[in-house]
Amino acid sequence: MSEIAERLERNLETIARDEPALIRRVYEDLFSHHPSIAELFTTHRTAVRAEMLREILVIALAQAEGASWVEENLASLGYKHHVNEVTHEMYGWFTDCLIRIFAEFSGSEWCAELEADWRAVLEQLSDQMRRAGEDAGEA
Ligand code: HEM
Repeated sequence: MSEIAERLERNLETIARDEPALIRRVYEDLFSHHPSIAELFTTHRTAVRAEMLREILVIALAQAEGASWVEENLASLGYKHHVNEVTHEMYGWFTDCLIRIFAEFSGSEWCAELEADWRAVLEQLSDQMRRAGEDAGEA
């Protein structure tokens, strides 16, 4: 495992220690900064919010480790999100939100290096999903 993947995995153990609180804070923060997004996540789909966050964390670690299944998975997710009207800028909003909340849950463990590593991996995921959406739009 790469040094970056190891660092992120260690940090994730801290961040996800209280998973229900993590999930609650991520969406609270997202909806408070961007109220219009709440409409995308209608109330009866609360389980999807948890599923999405878990999936992002699993994929982010796999991406940092260079796992081969990630690319295909992100292509299909990117297509679904495009159909669900998730726009390019929303990926940036979500990345910023995750960074804020990861910092909150990391406490004194948080540092510039962790922020840079998380940002890099989340931006890679977002780029791949956006690209899949664009390709679908052109088809
Ligand atoms: C950054 C990478 C992201 C990943 C890996 C990801 C992953 C997922 C997954 C696994 C699901 C669950 C169900 C499914 O397969 O469709 C989901 C649902 C959803 N995602 Fe994401 N997502 C990402 C970014 C975003 C962003 C930026 C938004 C918008 C702010 C968004 C909005 C949604 C919505 C609205 C649903 C629920 C769709 C429904 O009701 O079925 N996602 N996402």
